[in-house]
Amino acid sequence: MTITISGLSATRSGRTILYSTDITIDPGARVGLVGASGSGKSTLGHALIDGLRAQGAAVAHVPQSPDEALDPLRSMGFHWREAEHALRLAPNPARQSELFEALNISGANLRKRPWGWSRGMQQRFVIAMALIGTPDLLVMDEPTSALDPVAAARTMDLLDRYLADRHTALLLITHDLGLAARRVSRLMVMENGQIVEDAPTSQMLAQPQTRQAQALCAHRNWLALPC
Ligand SMILES: Nc1ncnc2c1ncn2[C@@H]1O[C@H](COP(=O)(O)OP(=O)(O)O)[C@@H](O)[C@H]1O
Ligand SMILES: [Mg+2]
Repeated sequence: MTITISGLSATRSGRTILYSTDITIDPGARVGLVGASGSGKSTLGHALIDGLRAQGAAVAHVPQSPDEALDPLRSMGFHWREAEHALRLAPNPARQSELFEALNISGANLRKRPWGWSRGMQQRFVIAMALIGTPDLLVMDEPTSALDPVAAARTMDLLDRYLADRHTALLLITHDLGLAARRVSRLMVMENGQIVEDAPTSQMLAQPQTRQAQALCAHRNWLALPC
């Protein structure tokens, strides 16, 4: 389904951190949301998820920090069962092993609580949880920030395969234009709580229009980067 929502906004402590924003994403589209730290990317991601869930859309979220998704008092196995339960799916050990294998966390102990796993493993576990179902939209907020470059590339390749045979759309939130440029066909640039540019990736890289997009694109051949 086409994702469409208007008038998203947010204020904190009397300060506007997200100005009124409309978003439309085609079914299965892969869109990047890029911009400097503090520009409002995570805020927009949260507002979008809340708004779409209120509309009844199925949205999976990989938050910027695994702490947002994992309860420190619950085992990793508990989280996995809860995720399946929330999607009304019967436990499926084959699906679990396939995802764990692909994300290189097969050997980890599910009886442990989050702090018994490394940060990078927690992040990959949260990504695996987001890939259990077939949502309308998958929002991933800096999904590879705790991963080394090899694990990051492997994770993004898995994501490509996952999306290839589904109608799930992707919103990839990242400060890393190089990562986004390789994986999405449309880029939105954020600054100071506003989307200041929104264009097909190739067009944005070739001819960035705004000062912010020009600054992000400057001096680098982003598509030649390996990540
Ligand atoms: N709970 C909050 N209270 C006050 N300010 C916040 C809060 N959350 C975010 N902000 C501020 O809003 C702005 C956007 O934050 P964020 O959406 O996290 O940016 P990004 O994800 O692009 O780094 C930042 O200036 C941040 O300091
Ligand atoms: Mg953020």
